[in-house]
Amino acid sequence: MERLIYVSTAIPSLAGGDVFDIIQKSSLRNPDRGITGFLCVVGGLFFQYIEGDTSALDKLLGDLAHDPRHHSITILGRWAADKRAFPAWKMKRIHLSQPITQSADFIAQLRTLGIPEDAVRKVEQYLAVRQD
Ligand SMILES: Cc1cc2nc3c(=O)[nH]c(=O)nc-3n(C[C@H](O)[C@H](O)[C@H](O)COP(=O)(O)O)c2cc1C
Repeated sequence: MERLIYVSTAIPSLAGGDVFDIIQKSSLRNPDRGITGFLCVVGGLFFQYIEGDTSALDKLLGDLAHDPRHHSITILGRWAADKRAFPAWKMKRIHLSQPITQSADFIAQLRTLGIPEDAVRKVEQYLAVRQD
């Protein structure tokens, strides 16, 4: 069992309906794949946290790499895990209360959700470098 978090860049023409479609299809497929996690779309970026067996994560990463709805996938962190942080989330869409420019609020919200601290730190580091 592993967990990982990545960031990618959504294509400019991405519409709300595309995200709905991704969430809907993922929620149907992920139980069979043994994958749980969340997806957050903010400021033209996807942040996705996924957990499952190594082979399931590798397979999904392979699919994601070929998905034309985003590009520049950067894995921020990948860790071995004893258990799932979000066993009930087939692929939960996280809505932000603040825009990404308020990165401290974004980070606080991630913590509130109960995302493992090492993953929160990676997002924090990514946003700090990006805003410099
Ligand atoms: C940001 C993003 C997140 C995605 N997350 C998942 C996911 O959690 N599970 C999943 O099965 N597909 C997910 N997809 C879709 C896959 O990239 C891919 O389209 C799908 O797994 C395979 O689809 P196909 O069998 O129709 O080719 C995601 C796509 C994007 C752009």
